[in-house]
Amino acid sequence: MLTTDHLEAKSACLRLPHAALKPLSQVVSIQRRQSILFVTSEISDYVKAGGLGEVSAALPRALRHHYDVRILIPGYRQVLSQIGPVDVIAHLPGAFGIPPCSIGYGRTKDGLTVYVVLCSELYDREGSPYGDDAGRDWDDNDIRFARLGLAAADIACGKGDPLWRADLLHLNDWPSGLTSAYLSWRGQHIPTILTIHNLAYQGLFERDRLPRLGIPDAAFDINGVEFHGKLSFLKAGIYYSSHITTVSSTYAHEITRPEFGCGLDGLLRTCADQGRLDGIINGIDDSWDPSKDPSLVSPFTAGNWRGKRANATHVRRSFGLALSQGPLFAVVSRLVHQKGVDLAISAASTIVSQGGQIAVIGRGEERFERALRELAMHHPGSVGVRIGYSEQEARRMYAGSDFLLMPSRFEPCGLSQMYAQRFGSLPIAHKTGGLADTIEDGVNGFLFGEPSLRRFIDAIERGLEAFKSRVRLKAMRQAAMNRPHGWDRSASRYREVYERACRVAAAA
Ligand code: ADP
Ligand code: GLC
Repeated sequence: MLTTDHLEAKSACLRLPHAALKPLSQVVSIQRRQSILFVTSEISDYVKAGGLGEVSAALPRALRHHYDVRILIPGYRQVLSQIGPVDVIAHLPGAFGIPPCSIGYGRTKDGLTVYVVLCSELYDREGSPYGDDAGRDWDDNDIRFARLGLAAADIACGKGDPLWRADLLHLNDWPSGLTSAYLSWRGQHIPTILTIHNLAYQGLFERDRLPRLGIPDAAFDINGVEFHGKLSFLKAGIYYSSHITTVSSTYAHEITRPEFGCGLDGLLRTCADQGRLDGIINGIDDSWDPSKDPSLVSPFTAGNWRGKRANATHVRRSFGLALSQGPLFAVVSRLVHQKGVDLAISAASTIVSQGGQIAVIGRGEERFERALRELAMHHPGSVGVRIGYSEQEARRMYAGSDFLLMPSRFEPCGLSQMYAQRFGSLPIAHKTGGLADTIEDGVNGFLFGEPSLRRFIDAIERGLEAFKSRVRLKAMRQAAMNRPHGWDRSASRYREVYERACRVAAAA
């Protein structure tokens, strides 16, 4: 809570570039809202590798009416080239092997505050947030994301912005995992929520990196940051954060079992037993509206989807497919083992032999990219593949397709199936994680119980059957499009988690 002194100090500093001159009454009412620092390695306004970027853009916006929520992100080239003017508001010293950085203050187009960690030697590179264009992780990712974590800890306690400090930090995945550890080692008791978007990415590094990251030797322990002889950023986040969330209820249960726990199931079971683990499903934002999405070739609604056909024709043309009346299947995915790309490739001949067509967009592991190119060569006119990613093309594919193939081996939440549903394309998906929580089998999509080719093909056959009945297809499409997909309910669950974490911290 703010004291009068704090307010006066704020008024005295009003010459800083980002301080809007407001009447004191307004300043007071703004400042009564709690301050949340949302720490992330991706935000789709500027850069994303997958769903984390989309959630990082949408969730803070869903919460901004209730909190003063601000984003912290590394100053990658893509961020700095798009964010517009950034005011430098602080310089933070280096520590251990972590170089110094500055903190930039910027705003998204719709006025969300973004703090940017400015450190060109770490972030000014061609490539994704995590690696080069060939998909190789950067060698200094430990330093790059320790820099993010340390900056977060500094901003939280007022060293980054003289006008602001955080009541709570919301961390996301391993890149921000060290934040809560740094806070704990410094004796700063600010509540921290860590959201696990994907337990399979843990940020593992060799033990010899400890000194350069300022990690005390005593913390390299099973009760600390150690994971089978390595340093794990994600484990640090789980161990030191006040509360853990993940992105669906089913995944929250799954990760407490050895099969899905990636070696952290024991620790996560303890969190669950202590009431420190919750599953909160992601939403999708309002831009996913087929009646007014400017990316689409033609708009449509749940009541009138003539426009869907125009999008299908566009997809067929742009993927070199024959102009058929048969079912069109889409794959929009990172091309990695998790997503069951191999299963989709193996199922292709069944689909094609029954008059179906497949359009694939994505990039990822080279072996899958190669296999997909070969698949397209074997089925000219029936399978079209584009290696790469374009948001506009992806939206047209969700809009134009009849089915989305999503045979993920595991799926913490999954956004693609919700985008597809919203655009009247029925997902055919493995019953796991968020797919199990968002798809009702035979109602708004199709689910299969184990990630085997046989079960997947069974589900595809059921889809093909439904396609033959106009009445059934119409009912399922409408159910999918009308399913509530927004952020409201999930945002209020995050509010409950925030409030609980603040209460627990205040009582400690
Ligand atoms: P994940 O985050 O595991 O990739 P999600 O279903 O949560 O899975 O989110 C996928 C989102 O990322 C969708 O919006 C999809 O269109 C997009 N996407 C898919 N492939 C790529 C890619 N290669 N690069 C960037 N975004 C992608
Ligand atoms: C991860 C998960 C995906 C989830 C996304 C956003 O990338 O793989 O299932 O939807 O994060 O939370």
